[in-house]
Amino acid sequence: MATRIVVTRRIPDPAIELLESAGDVWVSPHDRPLSTAELHDAVRGADAAVTLLHDRVDDAFLDAAGPGLRIAANVAVGYDNVDVGACARRGVIVSNTPGVLTEATADIAFALILMSTRRLGEGERLIRAETGWSWSMFFMLGTGIQGKTLGIVGLGQIGLATARRARAFGMEVVYAGRRQAPEEVEAELGARLVPLDELLATADVVSLHCPLSAETRHLIDADALARMKPSAFLVNTTRGPVVDEAALADALRAGAIAGAGLDVFEREPEVHPGLIELENVVLIPHLGSATIETRTAMGVLAAQNVVAVLGGGAPVTPVA
Ligand code: DGY
Repeated sequence: MATRIVVTRRIPDPAIELLESAGDVWVSPHDRPLSTAELHDAVRGADAAVTLLHDRVDDAFLDAAGPGLRIAANVAVGYDNVDVGACARRGVIVSNTPGVLTEATADIAFALILMSTRRLGEGERLIRAETGWSWSMFFMLGTGIQGKTLGIVGLGQIGLATARRARAFGMEVVYAGRRQAPEEVEAELGARLVPLDELLATADVVSLHCPLSAETRHLIDADALARMKPSAFLVNTTRGPVVDEAALADALRAGAIAGAGLDVFEREPEVHPGLIELENVVLIPHLGSATIETRTAMGVLAAQNVVAVLGGGAPVTPVA
């Protein structure tokens, strides 16, 4: 029987061409996430599945796919949508796409730092509202970042790339996380590992880069927000559920923190209505990796993982 490769939503052509070298490729014709029933129908009898961050790869998915499934290649660095344990129990390899989206996502994290501290979203809305404006010494004053402290939560590849940008902009860096960075990285950034509570209490900008897991779900809740300085900003480019959105809306409304920049949301594509109405939060629709170059590289890397596994080899970027 021909090898069946299922792609749950359209991905860039070079990735499809590569997959076609390894089997018969079925690509969802819908430009939307498949419903659970559609997803399960689609993967029936698949040897490989190329999944997107909105697809739940769990026991029900694996039951639907059947025993022939050899790899779930997630086209994302985050894989909180995949039950890695369930896959391991059935011998299904899981891969993700680290590395290729590091710089693009760090660009967006830094864009959100600048947008929120300098009130760029507000300024744009003001001009488009055509209600008139006039320059003055006190017009739309923001907060400068030079000499201020960036607190990175999770100094992985994207956290590190964001910290490098911060250093270039004259910021100090502290970080919190499970592991101490190598000495040379700390030296390059002039950064030190601090407990999360200390980071929250001292950072002028807190940028989240930890993966979503049971431990990090609502890591930034009402208590964590209360520890931050009233002058501080929160930026999230990792996964929405790391932040309790209702608590964040309350904190922003009450002036408990100065502002926030969000690329990700708890229940995408929904955004907490309490956030929509606030001026001091920048909201963008999960654009971290959204460049032509990056999305092509992500698709190709996922395809390389599939081709390697179907060819009997090891995936290029397995999930640990
Ligand atoms: C990822 O790769 O996890 C990103 O969220 C996709 O933009």
